[in-house]
Amino acid sequence: MQKKIVVTSALPYANGPIHIGHMVEYIQTDVFVRFLRLIGEPVIYCCADDTHGTPIEISAKKKGILPEQLIDEIHKEHIDDFQKFMISFDSYYSTNSEENRKYSDFIFTKLKEKELIYRKDVELTYCAKCNRFLPDRYVKGKCPKCGAEDQYGDVCEKCNATYSTTDLVNPFCTVCGAAPTQKSSNHYFFKLSACSDDLKKWLESNKNLQPEVKNYILNWIKEGLKDWDISRDGPYFGFNIPGEKDLYYYVWLDAPVGYIASTENYCKNISKEKCSVDDYWKNGRIIHFIGKDIIYFHFLFWPLMLMKSGFSTPEDIVVHGFLTVNNEKMSKSRGTFFTAKDYLKILDPEYLRFYFASNLNKSMSDIDLDFNDFKSSINNKLVADLGNFVYRVLSFSNRNCSSKVTGFSEKELQKELKAKYEDIKKAYLSYNMRETVKLILEVGSIGNKYFQDNKPWELVKTDEKKAEEVVSFCVNLVKDISIISKPILPAMSAKIEAQLNIKPQSWEDLDKELKNHEIGKGEILIKKLEDELDKLAVKDPFALLDIAAAEILEAKKHPEADKLLILQINTGIDKRQICAGIANYYKPEDLVGKKIIVLRNLKPAKLRGEMSAGMLLAGSDGNSVKIIEAPGSKPGDRVFINGITPSPESQISIEDFFKVKINVDKHKVLYRGEPLKTEKAELKVELDSGKVS
Ligand code: 2FM
Ligand code: ZN
Repeated sequence: MQKKIVVTSALPYANGPIHIGHMVEYIQTDVFVRFLRLIGEPVIYCCADDTHGTPIEISAKKKGILPEQLIDEIHKEHIDDFQKFMISFDSYYSTNSEENRKYSDFIFTKLKEKELIYRKDVELTYCAKCNRFLPDRYVKGKCPKCGAEDQYGDVCEKCNATYSTTDLVNPFCTVCGAAPTQKSSNHYFFKLSACSDDLKKWLESNKNLQPEVKNYILNWIKEGLKDWDISRDGPYFGFNIPGEKDLYYYVWLDAPVGYIASTENYCKNISKEKCSVDDYWKNGRIIHFIGKDIIYFHFLFWPLMLMKSGFSTPEDIVVHGFLTVNNEKMSKSRGTFFTAKDYLKILDPEYLRFYFASNLNKSMSDIDLDFNDFKSSINNKLVADLGNFVYRVLSFSNRNCSSKVTGFSEKELQKELKAKYEDIKKAYLSYNMRETVKLILEVGSIGNKYFQDNKPWELVKTDEKKAEEVVSFCVNLVKDISIISKPILPAMSAKIEAQLNIKPQSWEDLDKELKNHEIGKGEILIKKLEDELDKLAVKDPFALLDIAAAEILEAKKHPEADKLLILQINTGIDKRQICAGIANYYKPEDLVGKKIIVLRNLKPAKLRGEMSAGMLLAGSDGNSVKIIEAPGSKPGDRVFINGITPSPESQISIEDFFKVKINVDKHKVLYRGEPLKTEKAELKVELDSGKVS
């Protein structure tokens, strides 16, 4: 009996859209899974949304909805994107499910029974204003090593030093700008330090893992493993730890358990045959695909969690690199960040499947989406070598051979092709898709050359039988191309099958000759790329801004700067402090109670010693300065303009803001001629004309 196989991709966070960086992994995994299905392996592909953690709780709060609502909406979006890219999950589930709670509790209990979990007091960073402990990404300050300003609570981008949030010098909360304090809390820890030998044994006995990754981990083990804090204090969106009041599993504990929960969802709700989690997780084969940023969790904690609770360990964990776009890190402000939806609006998903496959193998090197390379790869390889060959053969057969496939004899050439198909199979199974694509294109070239050399357009005039044989051979090659490329190009492959008038093929059909058969009508398979990529690259910088109405609660003069006022404001999502350069134009006491407009996602900064977490928007005509108002709006009401879908970055720099030229015309506030407004009303300012800053 073949062992059952479960294959997974990392679970995307449920707090944002799928972007093309994500697609590298889903395409890589999907191609592999589709290949296994094609050769008849009993494989399932399981994934889910990763729904827990602080960012999701905070995002939901910002939107004024419950986390459950947020993750529901995102779930639908994710599923829609994946379907359009033809990612063929057998189960796409959620970590916020009863199955996941059950398995998380089960594993937690097992670890506890084995005395691998203990409790300890820890000193953590706490924001009294926000009433919460601040994880790494929610506190910034000076790097304790090199003194660089504005660094996150875990690692310094300047000197790469790692530290904990409590080590930061002059820390501030990135949500409200306040200075946090330290507070002690009692947490659960996983005794990683006691498991070094088990881990080492697993790593050394597993011959599939990438050596580069293995060496990393072995080094970590040598340096000594630190125990892992697996609990978090409320407010937190996650699973309550049994018996605890306001303590939750850290998202990274229950996230990978989601792989198992998704399998159970498959077995209980989707599978047509009887199966169980144990078939896959105790008696089957487990293969994960992940990005290099989450090696830590998948090579240390996860195998131990599985091992210590009676499950099998992964047979392989395939680690890929990051995606860069035109050799740059993807970034919204640079215009190199594309969501799956941005892409789909303009381009065919199979282009991206083909391009990524052409660049992927089992390695951690980054892959680059270079626009020029993308275009030439689609036009010169996919379209010219494969698409055009197929169309040329089928339309020729339609026109000159009454669509009939008779038979042929090309022993030598067929032997050569058989050998290539074997190599293609090996390349698929060793995750070397770059090699697979190369070989598939070689098959296309063999076909093109054969057609060209044998000149069937001349043969039809002199030797009709020979012409039919040449075309029959080529039609069979077309059928083979549809099979060998099917995992990468499922839609194109299905189109070829339809045009050939044959049922969905599997790998075995490579050995079956199409003979005495009538094909259907040949039609163009795939279009050449024109200037679509240029359209993809344009994104308006206005979309990056998070502008909303706010209310001034308190106002006073800045003790160190004559031009500045210090304002306490309610932004609808929090209360925070900003500094505004309006002291020459407004008296503090006249401002309290006023509704203003603020840029909420401006990077917090200290202005002459006072924290400023955002910026008030005002208009100026060179003489006077007037604040912009949103009559009838309440704090938190979003400001937008028609035609631009907001996709704000979590933080932007002042330079990003200055790229957006907003001006005033007859009391209206305009960007590219469109009025800025809230749901209630257009913004206004008491100026005839001017600029906004
Ligand atoms: O890094 C991430 O995007 C995580 N959401 C991946 C989780 S993978 C698995 F462990 F759940
Ligand atoms: Zn705070």
